[in-house]
Amino acid sequence: MRNKVIITSALPYSNGEIHIGHISSTYLPADVTTRFLKQRGIEAYYICASDDFGTPILIKSEQENKNPRKYVEYWGKQHIDDFKSLDIEFDFFYSTSSKENEKFVQYVFTKLYDQGYIYKSKIIQFYCNKDKKFLPDRYVIGECPHCKANDQYSDLCEQCGRIPKKINNPKCSLCGEIPIKKETEHYFFKLSKFSSKLSTWLKTNTKLQVDVKKYVQNWIKNGLIDWDITRDITWGIPIPITNSEQVFYGWFDNHLAYISSSIKFLDKKGVDGRKFWNSADIYHFIGKDIIYHHYLFLPAIRLGINEEYKLPDYIPTRGHLKLHNKKLSKSRNWYISIKQFLDDYPSDYLRFYLTLITQYSQDDLNFNWEEFATVINSELIGNIGNFIHRVLKLTNNKYHGKTPTPTRFDDDDNETIHKIKQISKKLEMVMMQNNLDKGLKCILQISAWLNQYFQHKEPWKSESNSDSCVFISLNAIANISIMLYPFLPTTAKIIWKQLNISESVKEKYNKMDIISPGHDIKKPFPLFTKIEKKQIEKNISQIKSN
Ligand code: 2FM
Ligand code: ZN
Repeated sequence: MRNKVIITSALPYSNGEIHIGHISSTYLPADVTTRFLKQRGIEAYYICASDDFGTPILIKSEQENKNPRKYVEYWGKQHIDDFKSLDIEFDFFYSTSSKENEKFVQYVFTKLYDQGYIYKSKIIQFYCNKDKKFLPDRYVIGECPHCKANDQYSDLCEQCGRIPKKINNPKCSLCGEIPIKKETEHYFFKLSKFSSKLSTWLKTNTKLQVDVKKYVQNWIKNGLIDWDITRDITWGIPIPITNSEQVFYGWFDNHLAYISSSIKFLDKKGVDGRKFWNSADIYHFIGKDIIYHHYLFLPAIRLGINEEYKLPDYIPTRGHLKLHNKKLSKSRNWYISIKQFLDDYPSDYLRFYLTLITQYSQDDLNFNWEEFATVINSELIGNIGNFIHRVLKLTNNKYHGKTPTPTRFDDDDNETIHKIKQISKKLEMVMMQNNLDKGLKCILQISAWLNQYFQHKEPWKSESNSDSCVFISLNAIANISIMLYPFLPTTAKIIWKQLNISESVKEKYNKMDIISPGHDIKKPFPLFTKIEKKQIEKNISQIKSN
C-alpha cells in the first residue's frame, strides 16, 4: 500500500435526487475507506464532482424551462446537502463543467488526436425538422423492440433495462413529431486499438476484482467498438476544432474530472498534482452498471495519453440495491429518499445497515425495512449500545465516574485483551481488502465477546475483582469507538464525549491504555433509540402507497 491515496466515487448526475442505492454501492464505501485510511496515517483524499453534461440533463432542464447551468447548480447543491446529512465527507467536490475540467478535456482530446487515436466519420442520425435539431440518445422515444413498452428512450428502455439497437415508431421527445434521418459527422475514439494493452493491464493488475476482470476480458475478446465521443447539442464541453459546433459526449468528459478536480485540489494545497496522482494508490468506487466505462473506456484514454496520469489501482465495484426485492425506481416511486429516511432515523442507522448488507462483489443486495429494524435493534443497540451503556452506567454509579485502577489481570482479563487485539488485526486485513462489511462484523464480534465477559465478571457485585474489569471495559469502549469511526462517525464522536476524551483519539487504534486510571467520564445516556414495530409499519406503508 502506498502512503498516498486518491479516492473518487462515480460522479452524480446533476438531474435528480440521490437515492440510497447510490449511497450503498458507491459513496458510503468510499467514505468509510477514506476515513479508515486517514486513521492509519495515510495521506488519503476523497474527491468527487457533479456530472453536469449530457443529453438527459439538457432535456430535463428544457422540460422545466430552466437554463441548464442554473439547473445543474440547483442539483449540485441538493447533492452536497444530502451527502453532508449522511456524513459523507469529501475533501473536495467540484464539477465536470468547471473551467479546469473543460481545459483538461480539450487537452486530452488534442493529445489523442495528435497521436492518431481520434477519427472523423459520417453517421446517420435522427433529426427533427420542427425543432431543427439532431436528436441524440434520449431525444428520441419510441417502442422498445424487446419488451414492447411504449415511450422508452432510444438509448435505454426503463421497463426492461435493455439498450435498444433500433427503437420502433421513433418520435421526437420534445414535440412528438416523427424525426427524419440525416447525415452528420462525428469524432470517434479508437477504443478497438487498445484491446491488447487493456488486456495486459487487466492481467497484471492484481488489485482489481477478479470476477469483474473475467467478464471484461470477455468483452475484449468479443471485440471492442470505437466510441462516438461527440454530440450535436449545445450543452457540453466544446470540441476544440475550428468551426465545430459540437460538444463532447458526457462520458468523454466526466471521468476526466476525477483528474482535473484532484489537480485543482492539490494545487490549492501547493502540491504538484500530477506527481501526487502518479505516486498514489488510485481508487474509483463505482456501481456495477458503469463497469464498461471504468474498466475499458477510462483506462484506454489514459493509455492514449501515454499514462501521463496513471491508471486506477482499485475499481471497487458493488451491486445494485433492491427495495423489498424489487428494483429501485424513482418514476414508480419504489425508492427511499435520503430526506425521508433521515426524518425518521439517524444517519448512522443507514450507514450501519447498508455497510452490513453490502458485500465487495457485484451481487445485488436487498433493503428490507423489517430486517433493518432487526439488525439495528439487535446488533447496533442490543450488542454495541448495550455494552457501552452498561459499562458507563456502572462506572458512574459504582465509581462516581472515575476510572478505577486495575489491580491484577486474571485469565479472563488477559484473554479479553488478547481477543480485542486478535480481532482488530483481522479487521485491518479485511478492510485493506475492501471487505468493509466484514470489517464491521469484526467490531460486532468484539462487542459480543465483551458483553459476555462483562456479564461473566459481574463487576456490579462488591466481592468481584471489578476494578480490572471496568478498566479493561472502558478501554475496550475507546477501542470500539475508534474502530467504529469510519463506519459511524457521529456515534464515535458521541462516545468520545461520554468518555470525556478528545477527537484526536481516533488515530490511537489498538491500544489498551487510552483511558488512564483516575480519568473522569461524563454522565452517560443511551446512545441509540430502539426502532418500534409501528414505525416500521409506517415505513412499509409509505413505499407501498407510493
Ligand atoms: O452513471 C452515472 O451516474 C455517471 N454520472 C457516473 C459518472 S462517473 C465518471 F465520471 F466516470
Ligand atoms: Zn421535435
